[in-house]
Amino acid sequence: MHKDPIIGIDLGTTNSCAAIVEEGGNVKLIPYKGGEYTIPSIFAIDDKGNELIGYEAKRQWQLNPKNTIYGSKRLVGRPFKSDIVEAMKKVVAYSVRPGKKNDVVLDVGKKEFTLQEISAKILNKIRDVAANYLKTPIKRAVVTVPAYFNDRQRQTVKEAGKLIDLEVVRIINEPTAAALAYGAGKGVTKKVLVYDLGGGTFDVSIIEIRDRVFEVKATGGDVFLGGIDFDNAIIHHVLKDFASKTGIDLATDPVAMQRIKDLAERTKIDLSARDDVQFNIPFITMTSQGQPLNIEMKFTRKMLEQLTNHLVDRTLQMVARVLVDSGLSTKDIDEVLLVGGQTRMPIVQDRLTKFFGKTPSKGVHPDEAVAVGAALYAKSLEDNSSLRLQLLDVIPMAIGLERAGGAFHTVFPRNAPIPNAKQLVATTSMDNQTELAMRIFQGDHEQVVKNDLLGEFTFSGIRPARAGSVQVEITFDVNVEGILTMRARDPATGREMKTTVRVS
Ligand SMILES: Nc1ncnc2c1ncn2[C@@H]1O[C@H](COP(=O)(O)OP(=O)(O)OP(=O)(O)O)[C@@H](O)[C@H]1O
Ligand SMILES: [Mg+2]
Repeated sequence: MHKDPIIGIDLGTTNSCAAIVEEGGNVKLIPYKGGEYTIPSIFAIDDKGNELIGYEAKRQWQLNPKNTIYGSKRLVGRPFKSDIVEAMKKVVAYSVRPGKKNDVVLDVGKKEFTLQEISAKILNKIRDVAANYLKTPIKRAVVTVPAYFNDRQRQTVKEAGKLIDLEVVRIINEPTAAALAYGAGKGVTKKVLVYDLGGGTFDVSIIEIRDRVFEVKATGGDVFLGGIDFDNAIIHHVLKDFASKTGIDLATDPVAMQRIKDLAERTKIDLSARDDVQFNIPFITMTSQGQPLNIEMKFTRKMLEQLTNHLVDRTLQMVARVLVDSGLSTKDIDEVLLVGGQTRMPIVQDRLTKFFGKTPSKGVHPDEAVAVGAALYAKSLEDNSSLRLQLLDVIPMAIGLERAGGAFHTVFPRNAPIPNAKQLVATTSMDNQTELAMRIFQGDHEQVVKNDLLGEFTFSGIRPARAGSVQVEITFDVNVEGILTMRARDPATGREMKTTVRVS
């Protein structure tokens, strides 16, 4: 029997946060050095070879942009050849290269890191902070991921835990965790819509809470829509303005870019509280004659809203889709919960108020709810826990296989409840065929090329016989975490076949 505690960890794109439920049942956020409850999800190596994580990494990122990794959650579980990786390469100062398994590796301080390793560094830091604070070793955690993470991305987070000997006892979805923070132990019966707009990702889930049962009705999102994109809108505007005034493109200067990026985010945040702010950076670059040049601009809230309107539109389109998927209308939603730092932007709240005809609830803390929910769920998983919670979640995108001609054959539709299992019977197409290979994809497109490849599964040890005379019964299993495993057997003999998985 385990005695050591399980903590809850919100592994965010921008900030990470951890919490624990104490003996008496109180939820405690884990403070960092007595102060902040969140730690920047940033990893760096300085010129002396020291590894820096969190605030220490953030403090030096203007001066060391090439060796400072931020926003890496956007690259987790992504194949190198993808639009998202292409887009990331354009905006980050660190080098993004192909790894051995069509994955991505990053160079930091002349060393190569996989996304598993980067996530592991951040998880380890959070674990250390928690262990120090709680004065006990931490070996187990519930870790949250965006609802819209696919199987491959979820597996990457599990693997990150393994690298540092941290057992990720359960992966749960961020919006679901936020709903737990809102309703666990409060005897609530409500339908809530969680609108989670963080630094890197957007998630929306409709969750029916019936006391201790949390049932996700539908979910949707975009793993490439978040605060970073709002910052980028400001950055593009600044670059364009500067180029039109001076003819100089600052995009090629990593240190200048880092300074602009920093101020862009601060400007955006300030504009949530004020109507206008100055955007000034002295000595950003020099003319060819050696004359120093400054950036001097003014941003208004109106300007920011115009520059980012399309982003807010995209979130609302997704909200509308999830409502349709759940078979509910805006009137059926009892509460709209705001989660994620970017929901502090006034226009986001205004647009949601118009959409639903009521103001969103402030019932949860936008930065802390996800970690709090993870901690509550962690507590419920402990042996003999008095807190009993039941999560009924769904998969965010369809899972299926490739048919001839590249068509996608759906095995589980999106929003299929998990855990879930489906069986499919295939037969051999050649005489004496001993292997059967199948490519599995996740996504909502009808053509597999537009979906994410989860793996190529090969079932071997098929009885040699005439074509079409041997059946292979294939079982698809999606566990409570949204992770797929597959097995195959010969229904005539009952023998299990050997399964190997390759991702390329
Ligand atoms: N007052 C504010 N106004 C506007 N945006 C803000 C404000 N405060 C924080 N943000 C933005 O919120 C984002 C960070 O939000 P949060 O910490 O919820 O993200 P995260 O959990 O790290 O990311 P994700 O959930 O996408 O993985 C940043 O882009 C930050 O600039
Ligand atoms: Mg978040």
